[in-house]
Amino acid sequence: MTKPIEISASILAADFSRLADDIKRCEDAGVGRFHIDCMDGHFVPNLTIGPVIVEAVRRHTKLPLETHLMIEHPGAYIDQYAKAGADIIQIQAECYGRRRPSCRQWDQWPKEIDEVDTSSLRGDLKKIRGLGSKAFVVFNPGTPLCEEVLDDCDGVLVMSVNPGFAGQQFMLQALPKLKRLGSIFKGDIAIDGGINAQTAPLALEAGARVLITASYLFSADNFVDVIQGLKAGRPA
Ligand code: DX5
Ligand code: ZN
Repeated sequence: MTKPIEISASILAADFSRLADDIKRCEDAGVGRFHIDCMDGHFVPNLTIGPVIVEAVRRHTKLPLETHLMIEHPGAYIDQYAKAGADIIQIQAECYGRRRPSCRQWDQWPKEIDEVDTSSLRGDLKKIRGLGSKAFVVFNPGTPLCEEVLDDCDGVLVMSVNPGFAGQQFMLQALPKLKRLGSIFKGDIAIDGGINAQTAPLALEAGARVLITASYLFSADNFVDVIQGLKAGRPA
């Protein structure tokens, strides 16, 4: 049976001065979960949210919270995010092993890797599960899938933009990864970056079941139309 389509609201494009109101608007409109983009200014060229905000969001919703860790040394912070109330913890494959020469300096982006150190990645995925959260691995657009670790994952997040900012354009090179995952992986298949009325049908067709959206959702006047449109694969 095909899995239902779920919309995950990325609060990166919310109004942080009235976050509780925006959370409520998303809930009322039918989002399935919240996506929290945690950036450290090293793994990506932007700084955003840490566990204190996750804790604050936790107080305002019972929906699942997914924390997308775009940070160096994610393993060192897993406990803090789990404790803050993250139901899902998403860690980037590029943090495990030796990166491509083009992104080895701290200020060279996007981070990409060809050979993942699977034993350290597995270790952190198991750590997440051991703390009672769901473990997802994330792949940047330029990083190939590392299929060996899928047994230790509840979900996979395919990036369709180079991470760091909301409001970027969907990269079509994400689609073959979704297709491949659809044929070999039974867990959640999520897509993140540049999702809108034009790109959602492509992602759904390729096998994504969780659509993450920041700017397309939060720039709309009517959240219900956006969510229903995305689920149906049609314009709002
Ligand atoms: C990008 C983040 C995304 C971002 C999506 O680094 O991981 O979750 O918030 O934003 P939109 O939907 O605007 O592309
Ligand atoms: Zn994200």
